Amino acid sequence: MTVDKDKKMLEISGLTVVYRTDDEVIHAVNSLDLDISHGESLGLVGETGAGKTTTALSILQLVADPPGEITSGKILFEGTDLLKADKKTMRRYRGNEISMIFQDPMTSLNPVYTVGAQIAEVIKSHNSCSNAEAKARAMEMLEMVGIPKERYDEYPHQFSGGMKQRVVIAMSIACEPRLILADEPTTALDVTIQAQVLELMNELKEKLKTSMLLITHDLGVVAQVCDRIAIMYAGEIVESGDIEEIYENPRHPYTIGLFESIPSLEENVEKLKPIKGQMPDPANLPEGCSFWPRCPYVQEQCKREAPNMVHLNDKHKVRCFRAEKSAGEIKGREDSCNAR
Ligand SMILES: Nc1ncnc2c1ncn2[C@@H]1O[C@H](COP(=O)(O)OP(=O)(O)O)[C@@H](O)[C@H]1O
Ligand SMILES: [Mg+2]
Repeated sequence: MTVDKDKKMLEISGLTVVYRTDDEVIHAVNSLDLDISHGESLGLVGETGAGKTTTALSILQLVADPPGEITSGKILFEGTDLLKADKKTMRRYRGNEISMIFQDPMTSLNPVYTVGAQIAEVIKSHNSCSNAEAKARAMEMLEMVGIPKERYDEYPHQFSGGMKQRVVIAMSIACEPRLILADEPTTALDVTIQAQVLELMNELKEKLKTSMLLITHDLGVVAQVCDRIAIMYAGEIVESGDIEEIYENPRHPYTIGLFESIPSLEENVEKLKPIKGQMPDPANLPEGCSFWPRCPYVQEQCKREAPNMVHLNDKHKVRCFRAEKSAGEIKGREDSCNAR
């Protein structure tokens, strides 16, 4: 593993994004903190509407404005604040340094050009090379994602869903980005194809040492691909840490609910429906902890105050009064043991 934990590639702090409609303000992302180290894959997990896509779009300045507006925060990519970058600088980052894979491959593919020409176009726009060189390189990329190079001259509609997503992956790695933002890249695929695409992403991660933000609602996918996980609820990170630590010892009631809701492997669920009740309306978030209306452990304090993120240890953070208290008790016991 080549994760260099001390060197942060991406550091998001205090990111706040709203969408303003005629009659309401939707609080999509609320003071979110998130970081990714060099060579690291971070899984971002949460129900539909949690703000995952908005977070990824913010990194590339792709939030539609209006209705969207980034009202505060910083997104440092190797020290440069992307939120302050001008259009020209952003164009350089997009594709050259950071690329995004969307859930629907047709978001990225143009139906009227051959897949080979589209990959070659990406290569040409990022390197000064001849048409023949770009074509040869595009063929290599196709082979790399498991598509025979003979299919270079075919059009998107001649490919299945899984194959189209492979083409998109080939396009997104063609410019050798250092960070890939993958927004539910396998959700639209059936389970077998999904496994193949994930295997491919894993191989590429090892081979190219690319960092990745993998957005998904599937905890199995995260376990397969990621080094670290962040759980998102109502626009906030409620728990994050190393995969093993979080899977073995989830502490936020929402995370615990997510793990309890993992369906059997045969079932392919479209949406997580982990815990009774629904995510709060982002135009009308509750006072205090945003999870309290659904929480089986709710106390009076939770309805009044929003919990801070507590560092349980260097591999595990959680935003919950209950976890904070039990962490305090453990620390207290340790201290009294040490004193003796
Ligand atoms: N263009 C938009 N206009 C208005 N509301 C939006 C828009 N895009 C997203 N939202 C709202 O922002 C919230 C977060 O959405 P999104 O970032 O897509 O979450 P996720 O990817 O986790 O499902 C949701 O309540 C969604 O309805
Ligand atoms: Mg989304």
